[in-house]
Amino acid sequence: MDIAIETTGLQKRFPKMAQPAVHDLDLTIYPGQLFGLVGPDGAGKTTTLRMLASVMKPDAGSARVAGYDVVKEAESIRNLIGYMPQNFSLYPDLSVQENLDFFADIHHMPAEQKRARITEMLAFTQLEPFRQRRAGNLSGGMKKKLALSCALVHAPQILMLDEPSTGVDPVSRRELWTILTEVVQQGVTIILSTPYMDEAERCHQVGMLYDGSLLTSGSPEEMSASLPFAIIEVKARPRKAMRRIVAETAGIAGWRPVGDRLRLAVPNENGQVKGVLQALNHKFAGEALVVDFTRMERPGMEDVFVHLVSQRRNNP
Ligand SMILES: Nc1ncnc2c1ncn2[C@@H]1O[C@H](COP(=O)(O)OP(=O)(O)OP(=O)(O)O)[C@@H](O)[C@H]1O
Ligand SMILES: [Mg+2]
Repeated sequence: MDIAIETTGLQKRFPKMAQPAVHDLDLTIYPGQLFGLVGPDGAGKTTTLRMLASVMKPDAGSARVAGYDVVKEAESIRNLIGYMPQNFSLYPDLSVQENLDFFADIHHMPAEQKRARITEMLAFTQLEPFRQRRAGNLSGGMKKKLALSCALVHAPQILMLDEPSTGVDPVSRRELWTILTEVVQQGVTIILSTPYMDEAERCHQVGMLYDGSLLTSGSPEEMSASLPFAIIEVKARPRKAMRRIVAETAGIAGWRPVGDRLRLAVPNENGQVKGVLQALNHKFAGEALVVDFTRMERPGMEDVFVHLVSQRRNNP
């Protein structure tokens, strides 16, 4: 398998929608990668994953998963992938063990293999002590872990996870990511969707979706490096005066609040960054603000996303 997932001009339009939910999508995902499909609500993440999992037909373009066409060879794909839908349905009245049994049986796993794999999954996700608990009585984080185990029980080559960590507490989120990292180390290819930019940073490759279109794709490092801005963070008090001064200062392409700081994007052109820093410090001092810091920051996925979205809005 040279390429795990490949889409070409993939498209889906729902009736009565002004624009397609997924538009002309080209993606290439290599085996062993952890690929993040990142985008806000309604960007088309779920629709994309449904087409890749062969549960929804595209209306234009094509997609191949493990070399198989998602429309013509859907049956061949089923056992090769594990798919965890966004609103996955565990059986609340069944125990943890029974849910795993159920998913293993769907994939016709031989009894011995099934027993071994379920034991392995329970240990791996630390759900062993809860083996007999009804799924309906698990915490949110444990439900996600169980759903992930159910998607993994038949040892798929490719795992498709629709917002695996949405709605779980930060500790469970970290545990889920530890599990995902482990799964990738075992050689499984993962495509997951997430609305969180900090999760995008943890992926090998990222595709940013917005309004059904791919804004960009690449590694987080490549994306940060391609941003034509330097990022400056400032924190000064009173906050109102800080905001006004930032708004009045020339050379700042955009800014947004992050906690009690302002995060500024300044074009990476000769001397502009230095000029903005000097101007800000000068004005802060002139109005006797208490300056906690004005400092350079590493650009992140969120900065890239904000930039690309504003670019798209200005040139639709
Ligand atoms: N079955 C459907 N019928 C009609 N419109 C749909 C259907 N499914 C999705 N849409 C629309 O398609 C667009 C993309 O939806 P999709 O669920 O793929 O986005 P998403 O990125 O998964 O969003 P979220 O973060 O909210 O899960 C949205 O405008 C949505 O309203
Ligand atoms: Mg979704």
